Amino acid sequence: MYSSNTQHWNPEQYAKHARFVSDLGMPVVKLLSPQSGERILDLGCGDGALTIKLAALGCQLVGVDSSEEMVSATKALGLDAYTVNGQSLKFTDEFDAVFSNAALHWMKKPKAVINGVWRALKPGGRFVAEFGGYGNVATIVNAIESALLSRRGTIVAGPWYFPQPQEYTTLLETKGFKVEKIELIPRPTPLPGNISGWLETFAQSYTAALPVGERPRFIAEVVESLRPKLCDTNGNWTADYVRLRFFATKPMIKT
Ligand code: BEZ
Repeated sequence: MYSSNTQHWNPEQYAKHARFVSDLGMPVVKLLSPQSGERILDLGCGDGALTIKLAALGCQLVGVDSSEEMVSATKALGLDAYTVNGQSLKFTDEFDAVFSNAALHWMKKPKAVINGVWRALKPGGRFVAEFGGYGNVATIVNAIESALLSRRGTIVAGPWYFPQPQEYTTLLETKGFKVEKIELIPRPTPLPGNISGWLETFAQSYTAALPVGERPRFIAEVVESLRPKLCDTNGNWTADYVRLRFFATKPMIKT
């Protein structure tokens, strides 16, 4: 997780409204193909739900996250974890792989992230991740931004970075990574309840622009504008997720 000043993470709220994020993380774990004994950095480890799965495969895991609350939740699982901003990693040549699920879109300085990952990896190490790609949650973002702008006259810079594959490939290659695979994957995602839970969990950077007393009404308004697009006749909500998943390697010989 990346905590901006206005985004706060609560492990209980996260478990209730966003457990699907780690539940749907197995394809990127498979792409990583973790080997027993490998030392792996989980960048944006959140509450450690995937970190512990990697550790159970016999890997040595270090989790980092900018949220102290999430790091505490990861440590409570018996894992090694630190409160660190992913845009200022300080590890040097110590990991066989850097893994990340659903975190990089919270880090709006991708070059700083990629520089830190490069430094953290041993030569030959892999950077394998999945995060929100171009067009991710576009319906939700449009509804939030329209409601803020047209009804409140407020423009708020979005908290997320959702790049095209070519843009992210260029950033990785410019640093020296070899991009073995990168793809944009539309993945409409059923939500565990009403989309208000998703908005309350993830859209705090937007709602923070409003007085506290106005936020419930604002969320209710966004929910109603989204209902015709994202809610079926049985009341089931689906978010318009698009993933960017990639596998890149740091060459053995430094370029
Ligand atoms: C995502 O996992 O793609 C995501 C989660 C929360 C907010 C925005 C995107």
